[in-house]
Amino acid sequence: MQTPWIPFIPPSASTLSGKVDALYFYLVGVTIFFTLMISGVLTFFVIKYRRRNPYEIPRPVAGSLKLETMWSVIPFIIAMTMFAWGAQVFFQQWRPPTNAVEIYVVGKQWMWKIQHTTGQREINELHVPVGRKIKLIMTTEDVIHDFFIPAFRIKADVVPGRYTTLWFEATKPGRYHLFCAEYCGTNHSGMIGSVVALEPTEFDNWLGGNSSQQSPAVAGKQMYETLGCVSCHGAAGEGGRGPALEGIFGKQVVLNNGQSINADEAYIRESIVNPQAKLVTGFGPIMPTFQGQVSEEQLLQILAFIKSLQIETSQPAGRAASPVTAPSPAPASAASPAAANR
Ligand code: CUA
Repeated sequence: MQTPWIPFIPPSASTLSGKVDALYFYLVGVTIFFTLMISGVLTFFVIKYRRRNPYEIPRPVAGSLKLETMWSVIPFIIAMTMFAWGAQVFFQQWRPPTNAVEIYVVGKQWMWKIQHTTGQREINELHVPVGRKIKLIMTTEDVIHDFFIPAFRIKADVVPGRYTTLWFEATKPGRYHLFCAEYCGTNHSGMIGSVVALEPTEFDNWLGGNSSQQSPAVAGKQMYETLGCVSCHGAAGEGGRGPALEGIFGKQVVLNNGQSINADEAYIRESIVNPQAKLVTGFGPIMPTFQGQVSEEQLLQILAFIKSLQIETSQPAGRAASPVTAPSPAPASAASPAAANR
């Protein structure tokens, strides 16, 4: 597998990589064609119309509408094929499928910390199954980093205070490079690792072999209790002082200024670190900020817990945290082969 020379392109190992390569080769092909055509015609004319004696005066040149229209319209059409094709691949890549398995990624000078929804943690390694859609939810504890898997042709900045996502489906088992692609300080070049794509059964073995770890949703529930969130955000508004959180994730929330907002990852994170930014209608600005008290990993765990409250909404709720006394993993985290073969 190791070759003594630098490969022209990285291995192609995701459902996206073939599409990116095809587009790339189209661009290279068009470029080569025009480079050869223009330099060929140029050379031909230079020879054919060379000055043959020192007193020669060129004939006057009249414009040609036909010619000018042609050399405007043809390049325009070619440029538009690049645009349409590029946009199609772009939209495919930036709309994550809804049935993807979620994995949390936190960048930090100078390492990648990864946690699976079943609890497994990894540093600078990412194990994924082949043939399943994976969605990464990523952020950083310090500066901007950039998560880059060349073999999958995917790459995205991770930005402080924000969640960015990437999705992919690996097609070939193997070990692939993982890079940080944004200069982030002294050891930027060492912020590297591997993506290990395994056959689904092997992956399930790998998951099973590391199952002693706490899932993010369970860890998030503990944070929720130790930080005292539970005393205000009771079940079904029971706490009274803060909005109930069950089933809130992914729903529209009406704010006190009359606007409504989708309760996504970014909104929930903001509501924890900067609670006054967007107040839910009917509630006062009484929540203290938790900025600095929770790490980015813990924020992701609290988020996982709030997401896990989704599927429990049909249950009658007793105490605030009762729906999660036995948290079941969110649908996305179902790692059983049956769930994955959809
Ligand atoms: Cu992190 Cu470069």
